[in-house]
Amino acid sequence: MLTRLFFSMVAVTTFGGDALLHAASPATIQLGRGLFEREWPSKDPRLGGDGLGPMFNGQSCVACHNQGGVGGGGASEFNANTIGIESMQIKGTGVNNDVIASMVSTFHPGFVQSNGSVINTFTIPHRGGSSAFRQLNDILYQHVPTVRSEFGGSADAAEVRHSYATPILFNHNNGNHQITLRARLFQRNTTSLFGAGAIDAVTDKQIIAQTKLQKAHPEISGRPSTLKNGRIGKFGWRGNVGSLVEFVDQACANEIGLETRRKPQAQDPLNRGYRNSTTDITDAQIEAMRDFVSALPAPTRRISETSDDRAEVIRGEQIFNSVGCSVCHVPNLGAAQGIYSDLLLHEMGNDLIDLNHAEPYAIRRTAVVNHDYTEAVTTENFAGSMSSGAYYGATTAIKTNAMSVGRRSGGRGNRERPSKLIRKYDFVAPDYPSQRLKLIDLVNEETGNIRENEILEDGRQQITETRSALRVYVRVHYEPTRFNQEWRTPPLWGVADSAPYMHDGRAETLLESITMHDGEAAGTRDRFLNLSLADRHAVIAFLETLVAPTNAPQPRT
Ligand code: HEC
Ligand code: HEC
Repeated sequence: MLTRLFFSMVAVTTFGGDALLHAASPATIQLGRGLFEREWPSKDPRLGGDGLGPMFNGQSCVACHNQGGVGGGGASEFNANTIGIESMQIKGTGVNNDVIASMVSTFHPGFVQSNGSVINTFTIPHRGGSSAFRQLNDILYQHVPTVRSEFGGSADAAEVRHSYATPILFNHNNGNHQITLRARLFQRNTTSLFGAGAIDAVTDKQIIAQTKLQKAHPEISGRPSTLKNGRIGKFGWRGNVGSLVEFVDQACANEIGLETRRKPQAQDPLNRGYRNSTTDITDAQIEAMRDFVSALPAPTRRISETSDDRAEVIRGEQIFNSVGCSVCHVPNLGAAQGIYSDLLLHEMGNDLIDLNHAEPYAIRRTAVVNHDYTEAVTTENFAGSMSSGAYYGATTAIKTNAMSVGRRSGGRGNRERPSKLIRKYDFVAPDYPSQRLKLIDLVNEETGNIRENEILEDGRQQITETRSALRVYVRVHYEPTRFNQEWRTPPLWGVADSAPYMHDGRAETLLESITMHDGEAAGTRDRFLNLSLADRHAVIAFLETLVAPTNAPQPRT
């Protein structure tokens, strides 16, 4: 017989506000459950809006979130699909923004926003849209040699890996211009929501404390996902959403096409004039759904039957700690006891890239004066100045001439280059400068001296100061984090019941998912892989005790 231990925690936050513990009434939670399980019709007369769609991924929340009960994770068939353009070239004369937009539209018009700007990631809704739009999607998917489920995601983990490994190469010639681009299908696997209320109640301070603890492990450097509003993101594979209610809000708009007061529903790029007459769901309904999700029980631990098995599990968790898994998969985090996550972002290696990036962040900026590196500032957070959505940057426009020292010659580097025959675009994050001109006071405020901060070859810093006060324009080089390969450590509670694994569901088994760790986790992964078979089994046996709650609500049939 199996016995189970429960982590009980019900936490609710106010809309967008600080984590606040208060219990929602059972009636509100019931109402929220009804909305979570509701099959939304289009043009619901009770609300006046257009209801479901026009674009949507599923007809109800529970359609995807159902593994082990209402609110669980989902198989890869429910994955959300995004096409990301990795690079492109446009040949021809007079290449301007209009030409770029019209050439990219020949690949898919979804990459051009209503204001004409070109984005490099486009999330393809599984359902809805005009028949012309559906037809375009069909053509796009012909470039992706993968078996897709009827629902829209890849059929299984192997198909996820296959589609990810196969770039889409597209060429189009319209006479004057020729476009060549390389794109890829990226997917996101449905997360389990068990315990989401406890995650919502974890404070920013508790997350930041983890970054300090990780300083003791040089190979590991988690960072919080700092959002535009200054809060720390906790939800989503990239930790890009700050609170549960905000995630519910955007899930309504993105997944079901329910327009909210804050989030417009997804638009059909071939029917831009279309407007929903009003919102499709009220704030009170969104909050009730949040209350339901928040009240979902947290995952639990299965206690093994025999004492031998129990001993193996205890040993497995000890090895989990000793090889370093628990540096990122931290057992307890504030209100989330038994979460096995630090909720921080980690650079996980190039194989796990996805162009819908984590919040940008610069780890170092270096000022270049007369080709000398003079000042290095360790961290700078760009989140505050980011515009939302993806964006492309033309690297050719950024390469500037060397700047002269001591004179205000800032304009020179910004000069637009004349249009060339071939333009190459590498895609970068929103407004993210790889280099930009900046007026910098190189003067030490205390001494009035100019500080020169040199990074020596052995990594030490050497600071020299010269007496004179100059204000100079310098070229600043920004070294960003690898935000395209950073992921929030997924909580491991409930992991035995939430296959497939990793952000896109590319791993069928726990062992596979561990072998796919790289980047900051490479050392830990190798220590795990070098264990004896018995020790490796013990770690897996431990992970297999982390199960979904036994008292999760079951779908009504
Ligand atoms: C088509 C499938 C699908 C539908 C329908 C869907 N979701 Fe999700 N859900 C996902 C995927 C995929 C993710 C992971 C997204 C990411 O992190 O990028 C997710 C993540 C979430 C999360 C974040 C959990 C975490 O810990 O990070 C919440 C909350 C959520 N969904 C709530 C909802 C609600 C509420 C609804 C209904 C309004 C809904 N979802 C409908 C697929 C779906
Ligand atoms: C540097 C931080 C770090 C370390 C160390 C680390 N992990 Fe992870 N782990 C992550 C991140 C980040 C992901 C998600 C990657 C993705 O989704 O692409 C992940 C994913 C997982 C998953 C899949 C979970 C899911 O829901 O998809 C499992 C299982 C896992 N890790 C177990 C382990 C084990 C066991 C160890 C030790 C051998 C370990 N991890 C070490 C950060 C880490």
